[in-house]
Amino acid sequence: RAGAAPAADLAGRHVVVTAGGTREPLDPVRFLGNRSSGKQGYALARTAVARGARVTLIAANTALPAPAGAEVVEVGTALELRAAALEAAGDADAVVMAAAVADFRPAVRADRKIKKRDGEDPEPVTLVRNPDILAELAANRRRGSVVAGFAAETDDVLANGRAKLARKGCDLLVVNRVGEALVFGAEENEAVVIEAEGGETAVPRGTKDEVADRIWDIVGRRLAGAPA
Ligand code: CTP
Ligand code: CA
Repeated sequence: RAGAAPAADLAGRHVVVTAGGTREPLDPVRFLGNRSSGKQGYALARTAVARGARVTLIAANTALPAPAGAEVVEVGTALELRAAALEAAGDADAVVMAAAVADFRPAVRADRKIKKRDGEDPEPVTLVRNPDILAELAANRRRGSVVAGFAAETDDVLANGRAKLARKGCDLLVVNRVGEALVFGAEENEAVVIEAEGGETAVPRGTKDEVADRIWDIVGRRLAGAPA
């Protein structure tokens, strides 16, 4: 599509994209985190702007230039991401959860820096579950809106993806195979998009912008029935 004017198939739509990875604090200087770069989520935001959408990008701990034309909301933790996503989803036509959300957070966040003491073992870290934001967005979605998630899987990736899609109750899931090659921080991606009704679309290896455009093709097709 190089040089081609992008389709304005998302004109009049509000789309929400989450990107990056949450950080769950242990104390004022330390956190539990993950390796998500945010590049696929930023590509989704950038391409949605190009296709005419109003875009809210909820960014968790990314170090990437803000996509021109998107409203960026910065968050740190899963609970902050949840609050921002539920608020932005209030009038959204589509929500795409590309962020890597920590499944657990430390049960307590120490007010002061945790110090070591000679001859003493460290206190174990107790973790508690974070809420499942995607499942919550799917359960509360506006009529006609599209809720999408991402899943990085190993082994039987499609079977795992199907089970996850059903569990989350979302409309579609972008499934990546992980393991052999690196996905984290890479410039390219490939995926299979599975839809709740059974549809399966292979997205060939390409830049993260190209992959993002194929995802918006599917979201746009699903939205086409619903008035803007
Ligand atoms: N997700 C979410 N809230 C969470 C965890 C995950 O919204 N607390 C979203 C992610 O943003 C992603 C999708 O759910 O879009 C799938 O994430 P994944 O970690 O694969 O799903 P989990 O249900 O956490 O399953 P697993 O035990 O395999 O990690
Ligand atoms: Ca998880």
